[in-house]
Amino acid sequence: MLLALRDVRKSFNTEGGPLEVLKGVSFELDAGQHLALTGESGSGKSTLLHLIAGLDMPDSGEVKLAGADIARMDDPQLAAVRRGKIGLVFQQFNLIPSMTVAQNLSFHARLAGRLDSEWNARLTERLGLTECLGRYPEQLSGGQQQRVAIGRTLAARPGLILADEPTGNLDEDTGDVVIELMLELVSDVNAGFILVTHSTRLAGFLQRRLHLTHGRLQ
Ligand SMILES: Nc1ncnc2c1ncn2[C@@H]1O[C@H](COP(=O)(O)OP(=O)(O)O)[C@@H](O)[C@H]1O
Ligand SMILES: [Mg+2]
Repeated sequence: MLLALRDVRKSFNTEGGPLEVLKGVSFELDAGQHLALTGESGSGKSTLLHLIAGLDMPDSGEVKLAGADIARMDDPQLAAVRRGKIGLVFQQFNLIPSMTVAQNLSFHARLAGRLDSEWNARLTERLGLTECLGRYPEQLSGGQQQRVAIGRTLAARPGLILADEPTGNLDEDTGDVVIELMLELVSDVNAGFILVTHSTRLAGFLQRRLHLTHGRLQ
């Protein structure tokens, strides 16, 4: 089992008192499986993804990645997991503006000590970025920038890829192409993949679908 969540609960302190966002969330994901997480705006999709990525801690429950509970790791352990085992793709592309496409693509994998030049070259080609390698992010279209962000994440071959509304800034056709590419590439590296989206249409492209409502999964 790649990922196993058991009875995960999370609330936030707000001015109006505690806000219970996740009220006991459990699910499992195997390597090579992909899953869409849908739910209305504010239903807790990003919160759940942050807990899986170790960017925030649950109040209670387990978040196990390859058998190890993320909720019980110290900061250095968490940092190592985030660097090597989990890849994140957000709606904002977060590319480094002063670096070329080639440098952006290899940056994370290099940091993680997992740069594989053959895989990098294949990724670049599959993402259609070969002609753009010497350009800077501002010289790319939105769709191209998101493909660089995806390539950068996949370059390190993480076992689990988490994407939070990755095509939210793209038009529908460009977004579909980006998701199709992501599905091909995560299958190439046999990663687990969770796609957060508010689009039931996009969710239809994935093997499994979970819907978050009133703090629970359906
Ligand atoms: N750090 C925080 N402090 C207080 N409330 C938060 C915090 N993060 C998220 N929330 C609230 O939790 C709820 C779920 O947020 P979020 O997970 O971002 O939803 P989604 O991604 O599904 O739109 C929202 O009501 C949001 O305002
Ligand atoms: Mg969100």
